[in-house]
Amino acid sequence: MTPLFQLPIDVVVMAAGKGTRMKSRLPKVLQRLAGVPLVQHVLNTAAQLNARSAVVITGHGADQVEPLLLAPGQALAVQCVRQEPQLGTGHAVQQAVPALADDGVVVVLSGDVPLTQADTLQALIAQCGGKQLALLTIDFADPTGYGRIVREGTQVQAIVEHKDASEAQRQIQEVYSGIMAVPAHFLKGWLGRIDNQNAQGEYYLTDVVKLAVADGVPVVAHKITDPLQVAGVNSPVQLAELERAHQLRQAHQYMEQGVRLKDPARFDLRGQLDCAQDVEIDVNCIFEGQVSLGEGVKIGANCIIANCTIEAGAVIHPFTHIDGEKLGVSVGEGALIGPFARLRPGAQLGAQVHIGNFVEVKNSTMAAGAKANHLAYLGDATVGERVNFGAGSITANYDGANKHRTVIEADVHIGSNCVLVAPVTIGAGGTVGGGSTITKSTEPGALSVARGKQVSIANWQRPEKTPK
Ligand code: UD1
Ligand code: CA
Repeated sequence: MTPLFQLPIDVVVMAAGKGTRMKSRLPKVLQRLAGVPLVQHVLNTAAQLNARSAVVITGHGADQVEPLLLAPGQALAVQCVRQEPQLGTGHAVQQAVPALADDGVVVVLSGDVPLTQADTLQALIAQCGGKQLALLTIDFADPTGYGRIVREGTQVQAIVEHKDASEAQRQIQEVYSGIMAVPAHFLKGWLGRIDNQNAQGEYYLTDVVKLAVADGVPVVAHKITDPLQVAGVNSPVQLAELERAHQLRQAHQYMEQGVRLKDPARFDLRGQLDCAQDVEIDVNCIFEGQVSLGEGVKIGANCIIANCTIEAGAVIHPFTHIDGEKLGVSVGEGALIGPFARLRPGAQLGAQVHIGNFVEVKNSTMAAGAKANHLAYLGDATVGERVNFGAGSITANYDGANKHRTVIEADVHIGSNCVLVAPVTIGAGGTVGGGSTITKSTEPGALSVARGKQVSIANWQRPEKTPK
């Protein structure tokens, strides 16, 4: 058998529709599923097909949609073509004709159908084989609103839209998904011949089926059983339903790899997550961007973890918020973080570091064994091995105009409620007394205290309340 998928594939994505039922200022195809715009899901799938090009039909909200599509970083060559006004799906694909080569297979997709799998499309393309019109179809118990697949014997004869269908045709449960694969030269010819003589006065893409039959080009249906792959988003309810279904599928994939999720229904991944062996994740955690979890890592309940690498054996206690954004966050082997900790961009924590409740770390390195267990802020700091940073202490890194660095060398002990005013260095092995405001660097091994001296007045009489 010839490997049919070697035919050049050009994808057409219909994304001009209004999405009225979303009731949003944001165009429908820019609404996010698992953190990614709907239309980007479609383009990602197209990229998995190794498509030669993608032509996206834009219309409503084109000014917002096109910059995303044309942004650098798209895996395949994307062109945008405007459809103004929107006269139907056939009219939409007509707009793409000048941008389409004649020698390829065209795969028609919708920008609001995000979860079609590449292997399904590969099978559809194989059915097309560069010679036939292949339709992706599915049986629905309630096919209301969909185009029905009308057959004579087993041969597909037409797609009849719900509004144009007879009572008998409305009984048909096999519907057109909105996805087809078709040789470009046939498609171009047929698009030139469709009209809008139908119940909606629209140019229907689905009319190409009749034209194929008239031309003697075989029409084949590739029927699938998984409704999620053809589900479109029209309303916030449908968006939420697809989100949950998609998240549940992702959760099951991770569990199959051995990740122990306390509850797959309470797991959200909006990016890339890599897990080594024996990772445990408690309920209600959200992972975003690029996250990597080493062997035996445990994530407590209600954590948000984004753009972060966590090494083997580290434990992230409940309610911890980590977001490395562009700089990233790294957590070393066996570190203990949280509960209620906040790690911000550039936090680089070594092995066995402890970060306790209400501690914020930003753009700071903490060497192995360093600890900040309670109520602290470390910003723009370089913290040596085994440093103990006391409760309530902070680095004052910002003078109102510029940020400065604080260096705390190995084995330093910072007492409670200290302010280290940067730029400043605390020498190795030094101690800073509780309540100190340190503005000058200190020598290694020194005890530094910078606070008002204690005064005690014996037998002090408190003032009494004056009678009225
Ligand atoms: C279409 C199919 C129907 C199929 C259903 C599956 C036609 C005529 N009918 O119906 O057989 O069962 O999808 O969901 O194709 N769009 C444009 N420009 C337009 C019109 C639509 O870009 O002028 C886009 C929409 O934004 C959407 C997609 O095309 O992404 C499908 O349009 P929609 O109106 O949802 O098609 P249906 O009427 O549901
Ligand atoms: Ca319609």
